[in-house]
Amino acid sequence: MRKKGSYSAIFPIILFLASCQTNPYREGERLYKNTCANCHMDQGEGLRGLIPPLRNADYLHLHREKLPCVLKYGLTDTISVNGQTYTEQMPGVPTLTEIQITNILNYINNSWGNQNAPYSLEDTRRMLEKCAR
Ligand code: HEC
Repeated sequence: MRKKGSYSAIFPIILFLASCQTNPYREGERLYKNTCANCHMDQGEGLRGLIPPLRNADYLHLHREKLPCVLKYGLTDTISVNGQTYTEQMPGVPTLTEIQITNILNYINNSWGNQNAPYSLEDTRRMLEKCAR
């Protein structure tokens, strides 16, 4: 009896850990919350005038090819998102792997009502070559 009890406590934890590793969307969500949400906010709404939104942002599909480089090396341009100009700097996260970048991009492109084309690992790899350092 005691044995059965301890199994039933551990089993959900194992399932939880396994699901974290095998579900790319959840992994993208976790990375987004840890590395992006403090600026772009939980629902991708941004901060008016300072941080551009990701939810319903034209930038995501207009600059699809650029996004892997933006995540890895940041962005210091003056950009326009949904007609509004942004000039603050975004720091990159150079430690992100190609898989992590792919998972984050698929998360932000398919959350909060966004329905943009998915990224394959190959897409990310090819796009990153343009900003290889
Ligand atoms: C320190 C705050 C900060 C963090 C952290 C941050 N960003 Fe940004 N992000 C910005 C700012 C500011 C801009 C506008 C940069 C510019 O004007 O050149 C921007 C621009 C962008 C853009 C292009 C514009 C748009 O809204 O579509 C994308 C995509 C983006 N960020 C995604 C991310 C993702 C994904 C992460 C996490 C890996 C992240 N950002 C982390 C502040 C941040």
